[in-house]
Amino acid sequence: MVPGEIWVRWQVIGKKGHMKDVLLKMTDIHKSYPMAGMQVDVLKGVDLDLESGGVLAVVGASGAGKSTLLHIIGALDRPTKGGYHYKDHDVFKCSDRELAGFRNSTIGFIFQFHHLLPEFTALENIMMPLMISGKAKKEEIREKAQTLLKEVGLENREFHRPSELSGGEQQRVAIARALANDPELILADEPTGNLDTQTSHSVFDLLVGLNSQRGMSMIFVTHNMELAKKAKHRLRLKDGVVLD
Ligand SMILES: Nc1ncnc2c1ncn2[C@@H]1O[C@H](COP(=O)(O)OP(=O)(O)OP(=O)(O)O)[C@@H](O)[C@H]1O
Ligand SMILES: [Mg+2]
Repeated sequence: MVPGEIWVRWQVIGKKGHMKDVLLKMTDIHKSYPMAGMQVDVLKGVDLDLESGGVLAVVGASGAGKSTLLHIIGALDRPTKGGYHYKDHDVFKCSDRELAGFRNSTIGFIFQFHHLLPEFTALENIMMPLMISGKAKKEEIREKAQTLLKEVGLENREFHRPSELSGGEQQRVAIARALANDPELILADEPTGNLDTQTSHSVFDLLVGLNSQRGMSMIFVTHNMELAKKAKHRLRLKDGVVLD
């Protein structure tokens, strides 16, 4: 059984569970790193809940631990201590292989810098996660990627490589790529961080629109309070603890 299948099976079990409106719940999350014989405590007991379909903005100064928290939510990293339930599942009781399945089938990541593959076209970048998951034929994958490109308003940029796209266009390709596997949860780390104000708002409105059309949940990190105010929930981190 491939990791994706393991997680899909779990999701079905999860839907029968009693936490059905709670998508994820984190309790007393700690993260420390050993550094030169000392210990750096980055997260110091963070609690976080999100309901299905909810949008949460994470704000806080540089170094507050926002990316660290997002990586733990996305199971890219394990906490030093603390509980994490996604639906009815105890996430960090999973093996690394199961966590990879969880990420591939459940989460779409959008990073501050788009991390598009430079040698591939916009369309091929979007096709990539679907090719990796191997769930469909190449022709179906191409059609799906074309639909996603249209959804982000870039149907006429299919054959452009990242260097032949503007910053806002690159970020929209990254959003389309994050949506390719129909994730339940989008995790976005400063998705508009390197864009001008107007493009930030249009990229952000695109994400919020996808949230209301598709009902997917979203957690995003931002330094922009105007964008943070558009989220239903906000979490402010300071020195590794939640302020409000
Ligand atoms: N691998 C690591 N080893 C040691 N310290 C780390 C490591 N990763 C992060 N840190 C420290 O953890 C703190 C929080 O980092 P993090 O990237 O989560 O901050 P952030 O809130 O996302 O900041 P920014 O807004 O600048 O992106 C920082 O002080 C950083 O130096
Ligand atoms: Mg960060």
